[in-house]
Order: sequence, then C-alpha cells, then structure tokens
Amino acid sequence: MQSLAQRLEHLKSHSARLAGSDLRQLIAADAGRAERMSLRVDGLFVSFARQHVDAEAVQALLSVAQASGMAAAIPSLLNGAQVNRSEGRPALHSALRTVFDSPVASAAAAEAKAARDRMAAMTQQLRASGVTDIINVGIGGSDLGPRLALDALKDFSDGRFRIHFLSNVDAHSAERLLSELEPSRTAAILVSKSFGTQETLLNGALIREWLGGGERLYAVSANVPKAEAFGIAPERVLPMWDWVGGRYSLWSAVGFSVMLALGEQGFAEMLAGAEQIDRHFMEAAPEQNLPLMHALMAVWNRNAEGHSAQAVLPYDERLRLLPAYLQQLVMESLGKRVSHEGAAIEHDTVPVIWGGAGTDSQHSFFQALHQGTQVVPADFIGVIQPDHRHAEQHRVLLSHLLAQTEALANGDVGATPQQHSPGGRPTTLILLDKLSPKTFGALVALYEHSVYAQSVIWGINAFDQFGVELGKQLASKLLPVLQGAAQADDPVSAALVREINARS
Ligand code: F6P
Repeated sequence: MQSLAQRLEHLKSHSARLAGSDLRQLIAADAGRAERMSLRVDGLFVSFARQHVDAEAVQALLSVAQASGMAAAIPSLLNGAQVNRSEGRPALHSALRTVFDSPVASAAAAEAKAARDRMAAMTQQLRASGVTDIINVGIGGSDLGPRLALDALKDFSDGRFRIHFLSNVDAHSAERLLSELEPSRTAAILVSKSFGTQETLLNGALIREWLGGGERLYAVSANVPKAEAFGIAPERVLPMWDWVGGRYSLWSAVGFSVMLALGEQGFAEMLAGAEQIDRHFMEAAPEQNLPLMHALMAVWNRNAEGHSAQAVLPYDERLRLLPAYLQQLVMESLGKRVSHEGAAIEHDTVPVIWGGAGTDSQHSFFQALHQGTQVVPADFIGVIQPDHRHAEQHRVLLSHLLAQTEALANGDVGATPQQHSPGGRPTTLILLDKLSPKTFGALVALYEHSVYAQSVIWGINAFDQFGVELGKQLASKLLPVLQGAAQADDPVSAALVREINARS
C-alpha cells in the first residue's frame, strides 16, 4: 500500500506530464471540457475547466481521495464521529442545519433546534423593545461569520436594527463605535465560545460600563456559568457546544445578530442552503461531489503544482468580506504540520489565503497575478442576477470577471517582453444564480466541507488550533512587563518594552 507521501508524489508525476501543455492547449484539445468540468447544486454553479488538470489527473486525484478513506470520512463527520481527535470530540456544525439520523448527530440537532427556538423568542422580544442598535462583541469565529453574513445579506434585512461589530482589543475601535451610539437604545451580544477570550471580555466590560449595567447584555457561550458570572442573566444567555468549532459556528446562536437582521425565516433559509450542501456532500458520487472536487483542486495546486498561495476574489461587493472569513476557516483549520497521531508530515498543507473584491482588486494586486513570478491559483466568485436595477453596469462587472479568468488562463504574447502575459494561471469560477440567504449558506458550507476533505487527504485535524495559544500565553506574561511589574525573559522583548515605556 502506498503512503500518503507516495500518493502525493504520484500526483507530481501527473503535473510533470502536463508541464508541457499549458491551460490553453488543454482546453483546445478537449471539446466539451467546459461543460464536463462543471458542477451545479441548485443555485450554485462551479467550473473547474480552467484548472491545470486533464481527465487522467482528475482520476489520480480521485484515487488519492479514495485511498485517504474519504468514503468513510464524510459520513464520519456528518454522523458525529470524533473527527477532532486531538480534543476527542465531533465537529457537528452540520447538525446546526441538517438532521442526519445517527444518534449523536440527531441529539446534537435537537439541542441546536431548542437553542434556535430560544433565539427566535429573544429576537421577538428585542424587536418589541426600544432597542435600535445591536453590538456583536466577539472575535475570530465569534465575529467573522456574522460580520460576513450581515454584510452579504444586508438587503434581506428589514432594517429594524443597526448591527455593529466590536472585535479588536484596540480601544480606538470601541471609542469610534460608541461615539455614534446611544446607550439607552443599544443592546450588546457577547459572543465567546470559551468566554475566556481576553479581547472579548475587555470589550464586553467596556460595553457593560457604557450601558450602565448588564440589563441589555446578551451572551452566546459554551461556558454559561462564566457568562452569568459576568453579569448576564441566564435567560439572556444562549448556548454553544464543544462540538461546534468557532470558525464553523455561524449557524449556531453565534448567528444571533444574523437572525435579528434577517428574521427567523431568513436565518432558516441560510441554514437550508447549507443543508443542501450537507446532503450533497453525504450523497453525491465523488466525481460529482462539489466540496470534494473543490478540495481536490486545492490539493492539486498545493501538492502537485507546488503553489503556496490561493486567492479568493469575489466579484460582488456584498461578498467583499469573504476573503477575511476564509482566511480563518481555511488557515486556522489547515495550518497544521503534524498528523492526527502527532507525527511530522512530509507534505505541504495550507497555502496562504488572501484576496479582495473585484473589480477594485484588479486595480491593486492583479498585476502580480498576471505577470508576477509566482503563480497564484484563484477562486473567482460571481453572482448572475444582481439585486439592483443597473443591468448594463452588472454586465460590465461580469465582463471583467470573465475577462480576468480568460486572461489568467490564456495570457497574451504582447508586443514587448513587458507586455507578455504568460497565462497558464489556474482559476475556479463559482457562480451564484442570485445572492440570497440560501445561496449564501450553500457557498459557505461548500468551503467548510472542502476544508474538511482537504484535511482528510492531508491526514490532519481541521478542528483544533493549538498554534494560536503560545502568543496568548506570552501576551499574559508581557502585560506585567509593560506595567513595570516584571522582567521580560526574552532580551529583544525586554529592549522593546524599554523603548515603549520610555515614550509612554
Ligand atoms: O484565535 C483563536 C480562537 O480560539 C478562534 O479559534 C476562535 O474563533 C476565537 O479565538 C474566539 O474564541 P471564543 O469564541 O472562545 O471567544
């Protein structure tokens, strides 16, 4: 039996085989490629036609997936097996939106439903109150999901509440926000799975003081006693569970602000979109399986072609926060260097994820995508039907989206070396028929499951994040140094603290 390293090495032999044929040749030599290399799941269409693969390479990738045990790994995730092995627990974000009938998954789904019912009742109460502004206080997974969803789906809100986000411990952020708000008309939701995150607790304390007490404070946490100890009444604390990772938690009460904006129905539609992808991920054959195929292209680009970055380029202003959201989802999940068993792994894992909204990004960093020495594969994301009346302007936007993917693939000889664009730069195109709560939910779930499938192939845990702990521990040691109450262990930090304190 081949080892994982050997299987990934084998992919490199396909990459070497294809090295002489650039994308343009692959496309020209393969009639029907555009149709064959695309998948649709309801309102979501994805084209892989401009990835640097041929049918044989796709077969090799599918064999890698099969050898990794993907057929069992997908139901393991969705049925609630302990896929987060280092922490000994399942990763059941799918149970927040889909009832799969294993005992573990259906018990989790029942808890999720009860929490959603409470959240709906609290939404009604808040709507009936005089509150006009809501502050979501949280960071990382307790911030990025609702922030993205609300920015993307603003048009689906009736505007009953203005929703604000406070994440950074930099108090400039709080000062700026609070200067615009009136305490008597504001409520705050402290969102923290652990209720131990320093940034959130400090911002929460600042808000509590500004509000004049805990009366309009709400919390979402897996640590209910700590939330109550903070001064939040139990009837205003919504639960979370250790079986939902922070970066996968948008669908839980972490999305309270999303329900406040979209209403119970809009929130349910977002969950329904994700449910479609959960069921598709569970049931579709490998070569038809959208999250799996998306993951296989990521593996191809990383391990066979050796690309160390991946761009995310939403051609829709409403999805401009998607790159930031995916940075946490993908990089916190896949930024790992040991196997489940703790053995050092011999292959590359996560690329750097970055990006920005088109067309603005075209006028900033696209030069490097077209002519830089490093090839950066990119996901382009577009929406076919806009929600505005300016049809012609929307066609202009889509013309740019199509033009960029074509230019990156095909390049241009140019009259001078400076004008030469080499082409051969792979892209995936994701098209949403419309941006709605449902297609939005499907899009995010597509990425979640793609991340999981990548982790299965790479033999790593997508659900822990021990790498973020060391910095937190050192910050707690350096705070007393800045306060003048302790000495720094590290000589460079000691000198830097002297510099800072001399000028404070
Ligand atoms: O930065 C690490 C992290 O643990 C993320 O994984 C998480 O989403 C974020 O902090 C916030 O954690 P919590 O919800 O517990 O405050």
